[in-house]
Amino acid sequence: MTVTASANALRIGVAGLGTVGCGVLRLMARHGDVLAQRTGRPIVVTGICARDRRKDRGLDLHRFQWFDDPVELARSDAIDVFVELIGGENGPARDAVEAALEAGKHVVTANKALLAHHGAALAARAEEKGVALNFEAAVAGGIPIVKVMRESLAGNDITRVYGILNGTSNYILSRMQQEGRPFAEVLADAQARGYAEADPAFDIGGFDAAHKLSILTSLAFGTQVSFDTVYVEGIERITPADIEAADELGYRIKLLGVALNTDSGIEQRVHPAMVAKHTALAQVDGVTNCVAIDADQAGSMMLIGRGAGAEPTASSVVSDLADIARGNRVAPFLIPARNLKPYTRAQMRAHEGGYYIRLSVYDRPGAFAAIASRMAEQGISLESIVQRRKGGARDAVHGDGQGAPTPVVMITHRTMEDSMRKALEAIEKDGHVDAPPQMIRIERL
Ligand code: HSE
Repeated sequence: MTVTASANALRIGVAGLGTVGCGVLRLMARHGDVLAQRTGRPIVVTGICARDRRKDRGLDLHRFQWFDDPVELARSDAIDVFVELIGGENGPARDAVEAALEAGKHVVTANKALLAHHGAALAARAEEKGVALNFEAAVAGGIPIVKVMRESLAGNDITRVYGILNGTSNYILSRMQQEGRPFAEVLADAQARGYAEADPAFDIGGFDAAHKLSILTSLAFGTQVSFDTVYVEGIERITPADIEAADELGYRIKLLGVALNTDSGIEQRVHPAMVAKHTALAQVDGVTNCVAIDADQAGSMMLIGRGAGAEPTASSVVSDLADIARGNRVAPFLIPARNLKPYTRAQMRAHEGGYYIRLSVYDRPGAFAAIASRMAEQGISLESIVQRRKGGARDAVHGDGQGAPTPVVMITHRTMEDSMRKALEAIEKDGHVDAPPQMIRIERL
């Protein structure tokens, strides 16, 4: 027997019964009644779709109408809202979302890749059709950041949105920090425990965070979603030596996503960053996410919470459903899609800030002088310079003249990335270092 819905019910079709899809079904079963009270009408799952009908998901699915094809579910007369939890920027997810919009169905999706690549076009189609396209679950799991940016901060100019947008990377960096172990070892352990994907490239390479950031950028600055222009650097090159030096200098290393409005355009960047260890963001450890906003009227604020997992992500999906049930409709990217401005990219080489530099320098006469002169040529002023023994303990800058490579850590004053890169290229060419320089941007919060 399949579910029948009362005349005023909002009928939902859920495509994709993985962790999040099953979480949505469980949440609806647990809180469906109270949700009906809160929204003034029942919200009822009527249709479901997944690749494998026989798989045991620990749920009784017999009440729902089963669809093998998500496009068929998207077009079905049995639903008012299509919930896309399939994932992927193209393929069945995109086909089904487009079909749902064409058929005049509201869409709720957790699919950050889809939105990062096709967000503006999908938003335009939803608006033409007069339906909702909601995606709270696509950014930072259970943290209600989309609603805050779309609705609560509608009267603000946002100058910066940034944060820890990938739990896997933050978990790995936290454990490297706490245990002093190298990246590869912590990653392998995280995979063995099921905390990191078998193919973790998307998380540790920064691309998952970049998808989320590109959506936040559009909401913050009223620009078309522009994923391809995000500068992306992952955490693979972070070493225990960096983490230890950062700690001594008063910093933590975090994989940050930052969108910043500058005079030369918008910076969108995902990269490991040094953040002062007394700040709230530096305390965000493990799989937790954090999104911070600088707004001209409301000021600065920060939301910290669970960025992934069945319950938090389902919570966001259901909040989108509640909005649709109440008739609370906002343009997907806050302003009508046709009015979204083209994204103007600020070149990464024009980025300005302080830098942490770690060099492995041959300990011989003239090496420091050459390095200092390369920095000076580019107008870079050093805030501090520390020579460290191989064992990790700190030394004064005097060297023992033995010639073996020794780690040298520098912190620069504010400078332009172009100058920093040119100085490091010259230092590498001069031959006083035995490995490529490490460069980590310092983020002032
Ligand atoms: N894999 C993501 C993370 C969660 O590690 O934060 C889904 O975007």
